[in-house]
Amino acid sequence: MAKKKAKKPSYACRACGAQFARWMGRCTTCGEWDTIEEQAAAPSTASKERTGGARPMRIGDVSTEDARRLPTGIGELDRALGGGPVRGGVALLGGDPGIGKSTLLMQALAALAARDESAVYVTGEESASQVALRARRIGGAGMEAVRILATTELEDAEAALSAEKPAVAVIDSIQTLRAASLSSAPGSVSQLREVAARLIDLAKRHGIALFLIGHVTKEGAIAGPKVLEHLVDTVLSFEGDRSHAFRVLRATKNRFGPAQEMGVFEMDREGLREVPDPSALFLAERPEGSAGSVVVPTAEGTRPLLVELQALVAPAVYGNARRVVSGLDGNRLAILLAVLDRKAQTRVLDRDVFASVAGGARVDERALDLALAVAVVSSYRQRAVPADLVVFGEVGLAGEVRAVPRPGPRIAEARKLGFRRVLLPKTNAERLTKKEKKGLTLMPVGTLAEALETALD
Ligand code: TYD
Ligand code: MG
Repeated sequence: MAKKKAKKPSYACRACGAQFARWMGRCTTCGEWDTIEEQAAAPSTASKERTGGARPMRIGDVSTEDARRLPTGIGELDRALGGGPVRGGVALLGGDPGIGKSTLLMQALAALAARDESAVYVTGEESASQVALRARRIGGAGMEAVRILATTELEDAEAALSAEKPAVAVIDSIQTLRAASLSSAPGSVSQLREVAARLIDLAKRHGIALFLIGHVTKEGAIAGPKVLEHLVDTVLSFEGDRSHAFRVLRATKNRFGPAQEMGVFEMDREGLREVPDPSALFLAERPEGSAGSVVVPTAEGTRPLLVELQALVAPAVYGNARRVVSGLDGNRLAILLAVLDRKAQTRVLDRDVFASVAGGARVDERALDLALAVAVVSSYRQRAVPADLVVFGEVGLAGEVRAVPRPGPRIAEARKLGFRRVLLPKTNAERLTKKEKKGLTLMPVGTLAEALETALD
């Protein structure tokens, strides 16, 4: 345990983690109101990484055995993690309440228990019987063998994990645990920091693959200081629209693998099911030949994914044009509408514009720009794009269409799903190999105006 310094209160912002010598009503760093709270002066020294020897080693001599990985066998989860959980590695899982965080990790524990790995689930949210009830309903090999500890005391969790030394453990949730050494409330900045630092230390010492579940705020950030995200090895977010069954697990940070890798699941009565071919699922209900609908091959992780983008342009009623988006960036839409107005002579600025990614998926890439612009104009002109067309490309402020990364895999995924025409940036098209272009009609464009003419002639 860390020795406490002499008591002198210090303060930290719950939203951004900035530290202050006195209390204030508003954080001067991030501008949030009412987020400053008192914290214990000395954060635990337990968080200091143990590097095991002070002498530098040759890179060639450092062991990197992959035996430290514990693949769960749940392919979509392992994929998002870059191959599976890592012994001694700590992952923070964030997501809206009710999205399926507890379900996902319970299934992961069961899968590992079925492979004879010991698994412990620490719950501060629900009682052991509530957790067991749900676990039995989900079922699956290994579920019976998962151990549950219901507690809100950090010391209990530490003692249990130190004694048990499980291969894998879940803390549900980090906000509900409380270190007795600190007087502040569970979920406060100092508690979160202390709890996280001590659990991370424990995981590293015993080689436990540890998952911390974290609540998210309305804005979608993991509640508590950003510090948490810096402390852990991997940050996962579980996303989806609760009115849909699809869930996307995304690694936004990963020290052990590629970031932005994602796994796709579907929630049903027996818990989460893997979706090995998500493109087909996201396009299942596409209204072919309908104005405003455009298919985009996205490629945020290493896996390309086709999604349907829908736009609806309608007369504004109150003179104040509205923009409503779901699953995509509203600022991007605003910029594109201005570019359409100034560079492509499409007067949509005074209209209501609604845009969404169908099926509850979320896309956060510039490659979406061109498809979004085409969808808006398609709805505006009441003209559908060809049913076998996919569109991707970034749009610049001058109305130019710019290259995006990984055009090859995007096109390959479109071909696999039966699409035949590709509207894409000229600079991407020029660099494609014969094999990548095979069997497809490419429609390379250099400007947004050209793109509209080509897609909606
Ligand atoms: P849960 O894992 O408790 O979400 P979180 O931990 O992120 O808050 O999942 C809660 C929701 O999932 C709940 O609304 C019911 C639904 N659900 C199913 O549809 N099927 C199932 O088998 C389970 C366990 C939950
Ligand atoms: Mg839960």
